[in-house]
Amino acid sequence: MAIDIKIQAIKNSKIGTVDFNNLSFGKVFSDHVFQCDFINGNWQNPTIKPNEPILLNPAAKIFHYGQSIFEGMKAYKDESGNVFLFRPSENCRRLNISANRLMMPEIPEELFIQGIENLLKIDNDWIPSADGSSLYIRPFMFASSDGLRASPSDSYTFIITTAPSGAYFSEKIKVLIEEKYARAANGGVGYAKAGGNYAAQFYPTQLAIEKGYDQVIWTNDNSHEFIEEAGAMNIFIRIGDVLITSPTNDRILDGITRKSILQIAQDNNIYVEVRKISVNEVIQAAKQGHLKEMFGSGTAAVISPISSFGYQGTEYELPEIFETYASFLKKKITDIQTNKSKDPYGWRVKV
Ligand code: PLP
Ligand code: COI
Repeated sequence: MAIDIKIQAIKNSKIGTVDFNNLSFGKVFSDHVFQCDFINGNWQNPTIKPNEPILLNPAAKIFHYGQSIFEGMKAYKDESGNVFLFRPSENCRRLNISANRLMMPEIPEELFIQGIENLLKIDNDWIPSADGSSLYIRPFMFASSDGLRASPSDSYTFIITTAPSGAYFSEKIKVLIEEKYARAANGGVGYAKAGGNYAAQFYPTQLAIEKGYDQVIWTNDNSHEFIEEAGAMNIFIRIGDVLITSPTNDRILDGITRKSILQIAQDNNIYVEVRKISVNEVIQAAKQGHLKEMFGSGTAAVISPISSFGYQGTEYELPEIFETYASFLKKKITDIQTNKSKDPYGWRVKV
């Protein structure tokens, strides 16, 4: 059923100020946002409106208790101007998993999808079509009622903002395996896409950056023995010809890119193992010359190969190999996303 979305169109578009040939990630924003509000137990006022600052009371609960969750998605435009989303229902499902964990209301899938689709129609010109660029879509929800009692908010705001974007990482990344800090713990919120998870990563990531790394490889919180995620990405490790990734758990985000890669790999005769992978196993494989590739996966970063990693003061270089799983899988997934190949899985959704 079509939802009645109120449209308040912008008077003067900003699009002329944007250099679409030099897009970085998430720096410029399209003309409009979609917004709706959860008040008195119901989602109401679905509106597309100019992308402008929003007014909140200083006592709004988001500022104090961090009830805030988000999603990351992309819209792709093919050569003929057709627009596609990739597995959008999965993002809605995951947003609602996050909402439950943070005591926030679920968003109905039709509101989520129709909000995005209508926003993409009005801001269609903002969707880039050049190779490697896309419209990054950021749906998010936060606690908007006022009050300093540490309890869940009564009202919430859901907004979708979009940003024409290029690559998140333009080169291979150097990573540091974390031995002290953790991004998540058992029983915590690691599996939710909660804003606070990212805030908690900034300090350890900054320490790694100061040592010359781009990202931290998160290990399990108590013993730091097992490899779990790569910054804001899931992680894949190739030892010999086996592609390994950690099973998801309380501490790991169930990445949509990750599960798509697992499916594509299996269907293309790449042997995959979803199992715990210890730092020690990776070090031994590196020493014996069996460690062939490491890469991160995520919507923003797609597939980002790792050039080297540091652990306990030693640097381990990944070999330069010719035909990598990373480039094979990246081409397969981006060809599906951008309508350059058939989509045997039904993942691509035309807008
Ligand atoms: N892990 C974390 C912590 C993330 O923030 C992301 C990004 O969304 C991912 C993994 C990858 O998830 P997805 O592939 O669904 O974007
Ligand atoms: C994404 O990949 O969409 C993310 O949400 C990661 C982000 C922190 C840029």
